[in-house]
Amino acid sequence: MIVLGIETSCDETAVSLVKDGATVLSSSVASQIARHAEFGGVIPELAAREHLSAINPVMSKALELSGCSLNDIDAVAVTNGPGLMPALLVGLSFAKGLAVSLGVPLIGINHFLAHIYGTFLDSDPSILFKHENYPMLALVVSGGHTALVLVGQDGNAQVVGTTIDDAAGEAFDKAAKLLNIGYPGGPVIEKTAQKGDAAKFDFPRSLTGRSGKSLDEKNRFNFSFSGLKTSLLYHCERLGGGEKLEGQLLYDTAASFQEAIVDVLRMKTLDAARFFGVSSVILCGGVACNNPLRERLEATVKAPLRLFISPKKYCTDNAAMVAGLAFYYIKAGQVDNLSVDAYARLPEISRVPFCIS
Ligand code: KG4
Ligand code: ZN
Repeated sequence: MIVLGIETSCDETAVSLVKDGATVLSSSVASQIARHAEFGGVIPELAAREHLSAINPVMSKALELSGCSLNDIDAVAVTNGPGLMPALLVGLSFAKGLAVSLGVPLIGINHFLAHIYGTFLDSDPSILFKHENYPMLALVVSGGHTALVLVGQDGNAQVVGTTIDDAAGEAFDKAAKLLNIGYPGGPVIEKTAQKGDAAKFDFPRSLTGRSGKSLDEKNRFNFSFSGLKTSLLYHCERLGGGEKLEGQLLYDTAASFQEAIVDVLRMKTLDAARFFGVSSVILCGGVACNNPLRERLEATVKAPLRLFISPKKYCTDNAAMVAGLAFYYIKAGQVDNLSVDAYARLPEISRVPFCIS
């Protein structure tokens, strides 16, 4: 079964063709980063206009790369939330038109769950059908989300921890804006940090109990990054004296800031993995591109606990994760009709479709 997936929830216009939920025939992504860079963040209205002009060429490219024609498409899947409303509506309208014209089913896909599924693209699909890999704990870290999701072999899923303010990717983006080093923040901070000393400055690790303040049990698996952002602001004011941080001071600041985020993500994930007695840990979402984060989890998630890290090309927004996940809904007969709507905020998560019992 070949599913054509469409993703326009934020600033990437993406189309992909995936066979049987696992084999990525093509994954075409047009990034709008350059358009939004001057604003230091994504402008929803601008994103929608960019999606509108990119979607046709991106689809043509995805079809061409896959070697398929429109007649080979068995279903159309599209991200219908969460995300930026004007951006989502472009992909959703396009998907509806395509599904109708091809006479194939339409499936609305939750972007957050798609990020989790992206971890398993291009890998052996049997991973998802092995009892010994469950329960799984997914750390979803992106520009919009930072959450720990417990996934059982029966498909039941529960968000056991989430951010109470900024997402980790958002913290990277805001920090880079503050340091005046570019957008998106994650990749530029990672690059700047390579020349820095991560132990030079001690940035806060909120909600870890490390500050000496007792940690409320309800926040044990929650995250908070807004204090870290404020601390960076004071740090810049104190050491920069109103000027942009430069040279080694900038490198050490970026490295220490990144270290604080990586440290919190590692600590919370490990604590939750032990508490819930999971068998495997999943790392996914845009921030999962971060090499220090990948390396740190690799070094700390030890056997018998298994670690599945999303391939970098499926960490940031793409449509292969959308088309791949849709396969399981189709198999279960859960397809949508043309009334399927877009939604901006993450709904309560209670199930994933790729279960084994
Ligand atoms: O998953 P994604 O493409 O979009 C959302 O669903 O939000 O994630 C984008 C986020 C941005 O905040 C970006 O700064 C962050 O992922 N990111 C990184 C890295 N590459 C992208 N964060 C840290 N290190 C990276 N190398
Ligand atoms: Zn995303």
